[in-house]
Amino acid sequence: MDVTHTACLGAGVIGASWAALFLAAGRSVAVYDPAADAESATRDYVQNAWPTLTELGLTEHGTPDAITFHSDPVKAVKGAGFIQESVPERLMIKHALFAQIEPALTPGAIVASSASGLTLGQMQGGWNNPAPFVLGHPFNPPHLVPLVEVMGNERTGPGVADRAAQFYDAIGKVTIRVNREVPGHVANRLQAAVWREAIHLTQSGVASIGDVDKAMWAGPGLRWAAMGPTALFSLGAGAGGMQAFCDHFKDTFNGWWDDLGQPVLDDDTIAMIVQGAADAAMGEDQADMAARRDAMITAMTKALRPYRKA
Ligand SMILES: NC(=O)c1ccc[n+]([C@@H]2O[C@H](COP(=O)([O-])OP(=O)(O)OC[C@H]3O[C@@H](n4cnc5c(N)ncnc54)[C@H](O)[C@@H]3O)[C@@H](O)[C@H]2O)c1
Repeated sequence: MDVTHTACLGAGVIGASWAALFLAAGRSVAVYDPAADAESATRDYVQNAWPTLTELGLTEHGTPDAITFHSDPVKAVKGAGFIQESVPERLMIKHALFAQIEPALTPGAIVASSASGLTLGQMQGGWNNPAPFVLGHPFNPPHLVPLVEVMGNERTGPGVADRAAQFYDAIGKVTIRVNREVPGHVANRLQAAVWREAIHLTQSGVASIGDVDKAMWAGPGLRWAAMGPTALFSLGAGAGGMQAFCDHFKDTFNGWWDDLGQPVLDDDTIAMIVQGAADAAMGEDQADMAARRDAMITAMTKALRPYRKA
């Protein structure tokens, strides 16, 4: 699917980052966001993201100037082949927007929602016919972290989820398919599972917040940036592969799983995490820490690219 003109509805944390990536990939972008400073904030965001996108080799075909701003979503979607919706995570807002744009869509256009918490089924309630509508859930910031979780269901038009995935692939994203509706899709559930045990380990006195974080980035986190947990374990027991690993470690894992904690984010737990995170930051300013995170993600993305199979 060769889409040259796109639209971004909502240009906050996620929408502005999508806009930067679409521009870098050589697509023109029409933006709709009712915030008074939406145009200046989005232009600033794109300008700030551009050097990183260039460093990643993603701006070869793009220009930051191919962006227009519209005070009406109907005008913004006119002629767009791919529309990324990133408005606030409130069902009423999403439904109202879908109802407005649906009659104005170009035939064959796809609308993808960035929603993290709302499900595809809930959002389809805002459509007369949700055939052109899919979930296209990114990881923050979308211009830097490759993953997009794509989902359609029985009410989605034939081939629409495939075409959405093709569009994302064409602009350098890595897509997965979510086959069944669950809260948090896939990647956020993985994060939630790991964070639950990280909190449990600190709460039960095993290690500090800072040391649990360090155990992650200096250990499994580094491997997980290369390959997923199952692929890595298939290499963990020699020539016998996955079967040998399971034979060897099944009792160990079953025992650990029985022992994992189930903390709750109550006031005391939150206070403990806030203090632990502050201690671990050792006075580093939030903006500096975020810049350091982005620089490291960019460096890893560049370094790993030659080794990717897909
Ligand atoms: N922040 C994250 O880490 C993250 C990650 C992945 C997905 N998401 C999803 O992305 C979506 C947007 O989240 P965000 O973090 O960018 O929120 P945000 O609050 O930063 O941005 C929302 C933007 O939408 C604008 N807006 C408000 N009403 C609107 C309307 N009717 N039409 C168009 N724009 C409107 C606001 O002015 C704002 O600029 C949500 O569905 C969220 O779940 C967020």
